[in-house]
Amino acid sequence: KVVPVVLAGGSGTRLWPLSRTQFPKQFLSLVGEQTMLQQTILRLNTLSTSTPMVICNEEHRFIAAEQLRAIDTPATIVLEPCGRNTAPALAIASLLSSQDDDPLLLVLAADHVIEDTTAFVDSIQRAIPMANSGKLVTFGIVPDSAHTGYGYIRTGAVIDAGHEVAQFVEKPSATVAQQYLDSGEYLWNSGMFLFRASRYLAELNQYRSDIASACEAAVATTESDLDFLRLDNDAFRACPAESIDFAVMERTKDAVVVPLNVGWNDIGAWSALWQVSAKSDEGNVVRGDNLLHDVSGCFLHGEERLIAAVGITDLVVIDTPDVLLVSDRERAQEVKHLVEQLKGQE
Ligand code: GDD
Ligand code: MG
Repeated sequence: KVVPVVLAGGSGTRLWPLSRTQFPKQFLSLVGEQTMLQQTILRLNTLSTSTPMVICNEEHRFIAAEQLRAIDTPATIVLEPCGRNTAPALAIASLLSSQDDDPLLLVLAADHVIEDTTAFVDSIQRAIPMANSGKLVTFGIVPDSAHTGYGYIRTGAVIDAGHEVAQFVEKPSATVAQQYLDSGEYLWNSGMFLFRASRYLAELNQYRSDIASACEAAVATTESDLDFLRLDNDAFRACPAESIDFAVMERTKDAVVVPLNVGWNDIGAWSALWQVSAKSDEGNVVRGDNLLHDVSGCFLHGEERLIAAVGITDLVVIDTPDVLLVSDRERAQEVKHLVEQLKGQE
């Protein structure tokens, strides 16, 4: 039995001002018609799985429910009263799904683009026997830059359909990331995992028993409310925040990595969205009414007004009703600093 667990509680601040606290990127249609969340679920169509579990912030419960209803997919929607990062979210998913049996959890981020669905499902299928035998499987991507926003995995001995994880380093410094890239021995962690619920809980108990016990308390009095499962508010708030990557993956001795060659992109910033989108001959991605002369390499998004531009290259322009963002395309990940400044002003 494989239970898809979709992590949908992030805030996606680097795609501001489209991605907002009230409406983060996993709920937006960024590539294609469906939203990122819907695509994440629909991608599993050819894999036989149990009812998926979607875990998100309670603030987004109606958005999540409506988007799942729109694709006719019944799901268990678990609501967090606040974000505590992915280690607690996955402890909650493990505890809730292993009440009767001990399923494999297929952990998916709700905001990834995957071009080759067939190859993706194939990699998952090859990972199942390893997860069944107690391994914590991660899916690894061949890196093409010294990106510092990813986990890096040094591959060890070949084992079944993958490799042992010889070393896992979450978000290394730029210098270290460059060394890893140059060595050719590392893969990026895709942030998707496959493991038995009980194995994750055992590892979490070993390395972060504080998180494990806070989550046990938070599910002890779970309340069902309409279509939602609510956690114990106080108990979950008391849980320390940490990612699965720091809490478990950097420490466990039982991780394996299955390579994923599927056209993966985590749409971390406007430049990444530009990269994966269909472009005009001039290399522009343009959404909304526009009037352009000698414009190239730009990502232009308008909602109400006509976007008119002359002689610009490699810019990102996002026009929303209350914010106009203009940024260098390759520095667009730095909009997160603007969001921090805004939050500071609140
Ligand atoms: N339910 C819930 N609660 N989900 C969360 C929370 C939370 O508190 N925080 C983040 N998420 C969701 C996000 O919506 C996203 O789908 C996923 O968990 C991963 O979180 P990110 O915040 O996007 O992580 P990251 O991008 O910094 O790093 C992870 O992904 C990289 C690949 O994209 C790590 O796993 C890295 O090692 C990996 O390389
Ligand atoms: Mg991410």
